[in-house]
Amino acid sequence: MDDFLWWRDGVIYQIYPRSFSDSNGDGLGDLIGIVSHLDYLNDLGIDAIWLSPFQPTPDKDFGYDVSNYTAVDPRFGTLADFDRLVEGAHLRGMRIVLDLVLNHTSDQHAWFRESSSSQDNSKRDWYIWRECPNNWQASFGGSAWEYDPGTRQYYLHLFTKEQPDVNWRNPEVRKAMLDVFRFWLEHGVDGFRLDVFNAYFKDPDLPDNPPKFGLRAFDRQRHIHDIDQPEMIPFLNELRGLLDSYPERYAVGETYLAKLQKTISYCGEDKLHAAFSFDFTSNDLFFPWDPAWWMDQITRREEATNQASIWPTTVLSNHDLPRAASRYSRGEDDAQAKLAMSLLLTLRGTPFLYYGEEIAMRDISLKRGEILDPPGRKYWPIYKGRDGCRSPMQWNDKPFAGFSNTRPWLPVHPDYTRRNVAAQQADPDSMFNFTRNLLHLRKETPALRRGSFIPLKTPRGTLAYLRQTDDQCVLVRMNFRKSQVNIAQPAGEWRAVFTSAEGARGRLTPYEIQLFSKE
Ligand code: NOJ
Repeated sequence: MDDFLWWRDGVIYQIYPRSFSDSNGDGLGDLIGIVSHLDYLNDLGIDAIWLSPFQPTPDKDFGYDVSNYTAVDPRFGTLADFDRLVEGAHLRGMRIVLDLVLNHTSDQHAWFRESSSSQDNSKRDWYIWRECPNNWQASFGGSAWEYDPGTRQYYLHLFTKEQPDVNWRNPEVRKAMLDVFRFWLEHGVDGFRLDVFNAYFKDPDLPDNPPKFGLRAFDRQRHIHDIDQPEMIPFLNELRGLLDSYPERYAVGETYLAKLQKTISYCGEDKLHAAFSFDFTSNDLFFPWDPAWWMDQITRREEATNQASIWPTTVLSNHDLPRAASRYSRGEDDAQAKLAMSLLLTLRGTPFLYYGEEIAMRDISLKRGEILDPPGRKYWPIYKGRDGCRSPMQWNDKPFAGFSNTRPWLPVHPDYTRRNVAAQQADPDSMFNFTRNLLHLRKETPALRRGSFIPLKTPRGTLAYLRQTDDQCVLVRMNFRKSQVNIAQPAGEWRAVFTSAEGARGRLTPYEIQLFSKE
């Protein structure tokens, strides 16, 4: 297929391993569970799987607190299971992207145990220890400094106190981290998602952050000394050198407190391939359903990424956000979720699809006592945390939605008897078939994968654009409203290639999506 480059033309599907499929009946998803659904993923039409962490973890941040970077948590399987997963994915032409959480370790990691054992331990400098805290705040609430009574100093943690930040300025740390990349590259991993990579380096003098207006103490300071330090770039250059010594490897950064221009500055031929700028989800309490707002965000991103020759990423859902279907849909109807999916799959950039998004899974709601996620426990009821979007995958209408044969770690959404993969596979109008058809169309249509983006002027409440290559043009039209909108018939020899409803040329029915193509 032309010059298909998997991370640029393809679609990356995020799996939160503990919630995807439980093969051994312990209520937690695992690697073999994923292996057993590789045919499903291949048939769906995705190109790569991003696995959220499955390394050993005391679960203070559900896997994002790693206690050993080069092993598999026995609850999720073994290294041999991981090799099977890589092999199975590769056999089907799919790639594997690993989540590496290297800004901090778990406090149970051997490195931190040593570092915190005495002030003169040889690994003391592997973490950031000080006599006195500065004003830095942890993202999950409270001071970013924790006092260690044993060694009578404070250590830095930008997340929970069980996630101490490592000292990336120490050359031994950097070497150890590059060895982690090497380890997984040797196991056949195709790419990495770097958790909060732009926080690796801190200002060495640890000055206070200057104040600004905000709600939480965390938001009442400008984060200029705790993230985005210049030393990040030489490290990215070194990392890219390592990745490029293997064929077609990839790294995407999760930019902490992402700002578009800053995000772009981390990408390029000798830096990251891509970094999330979260253009459509950057505020996790406010998600506009307004085509004018979307067009604004899209054109801002288009201008900035085109100018820098950077390939964008598109994210509508992940393990940190309320699901797109929960944000935009009313009741059971999936019309708005389909529209969101169309944006995800037809904008210029690599789409990241979150497990369950293909069946428009909704967030679960939990009572206060059931909440597991640390920021949810801290800020309830203003912020209820991220458990909602992490519930078990809904495979069928059997008990526990076919995810497991025992009670899962988080409750299954009560709608699973109606909303599940098996039921939707059998229904031609389902969200599943909508997503699958669009994924396959995208694969066969170079303009949708590679084409430039050209915005079009359309009636209020609608959004339209072209995706264009030298020899193909696709017209995308969407109606964000729950009422019909008349819209001029496109001039020229357009062929209707996709619609969610009637596909009539002179109008768009409520929430309708239409795609036309011209060669
Ligand atoms: C970003 C991850 O996406 C999130 O889930 C995690 O809690 C923090 N980084 C800390 O690792």
